[in-house]
Amino acid sequence: MRKFIYENYETSVLEVIRHTDFQIYSEMLPVESAFLNGIIRKHRPRKILEIGVAAGASSALILNAIKDIPGAHLYSIDLSQSYYKNATLKTGFLVKKSFPELMSKWTLSTGSIALDFMDTIGSDIDLCLLDTAHTNPGELLDFLMIYPYLKKNAVVVLHDIAYHLNFSLKFGYTCATLFSALKGEKFIPQTLSGNTIPNIGMVHLADLSDDDLLGIFWMLTLYWSYYPNEKQKQRLKPFLLQHYGTQMPQIVNFMFDFRYKEFKSTKFRQIIHILIPEHFRAFILGYLPFLREKKQ
Ligand SMILES: C[S@@+](CC[C@H](N)C(=O)[O-])C[C@H]1O[C@@H](n2cnc3c(N)ncnc32)[C@H](O)[C@@H]1O
Repeated sequence: MRKFIYENYETSVLEVIRHTDFQIYSEMLPVESAFLNGIIRKHRPRKILEIGVAAGASSALILNAIKDIPGAHLYSIDLSQSYYKNATLKTGFLVKKSFPELMSKWTLSTGSIALDFMDTIGSDIDLCLLDTAHTNPGELLDFLMIYPYLKKNAVVVLHDIAYHLNFSLKFGYTCATLFSALKGEKFIPQTLSGNTIPNIGMVHLADLSDDDLLGIFWMLTLYWSYYPNEKQKQRLKPFLLQHYGTQMPQIVNFMFDFRYKEFKSTKFRQIIHILIPEHFRAFILGYLPFLREKKQ
């Protein structure tokens, strides 16, 4: 069966913002932006959640795509209050600076993990874009934090599903594993750019069984590049134990105990966690093992 080509759908909507500051700050290739724009135009979601904002280019893209959809609203979350590439700027600054007319459909929450904002944002989310750390626990943990708030058969979009290839980042496979583990109809851009595979994917979620969720938890047992801080851990563990099925408590308890024991036994990791700001750790710690291996 021929798949729907999202990147060709209503591209004129995206053209309106393409040749602006959006182009400077966008972290997506043109085909990836067109794919995300096409998904929103085709599915016309009302309640949208975005995790991982940075300058706000993907937020601007989504807000532009929903501007004529009555009742549509974007909720964006980022761990960092400041833009991770320039700490003098605020996360999401681009929307206020370049697209103030789109602000009325936007709620931005920064400074913590998704779990801390989800009760306020609430349930019945139609579409979610995940674009955060790309190394474990990263998007796997983000997905588990938001899954209880998604509408049945919601749409999940994952950026950087080929991150581990394009940047030779050995541990940057989190989006690839989540994309593989999620059950549902899957779409990737049909238009390939260069000698590579698409770096963005969409899953129209099927009903996830306990067995499907077990697969996601299992991916989460793979090497962790960074560790949520003690306060976050104290909230995450009971949340996961409360929301996930009968097989999960043993895995959740084991996983946290194992990974934090590993963390406490490695001075190097503890120093990194003191020296490097939270939102950078995933990137730094994802790279270092690779760099060390290269030198050998
Ligand atoms: C790749 S950038 C997002 C790019 C943005 N989606 C775009 O396309 O313009 C990743 C962002 O995720 C944030 N981040 C990292 N880990 C996070 C987490 N667990 N929860 C929320 N945000 C996180 C970082 O602070 C950073 O701003």
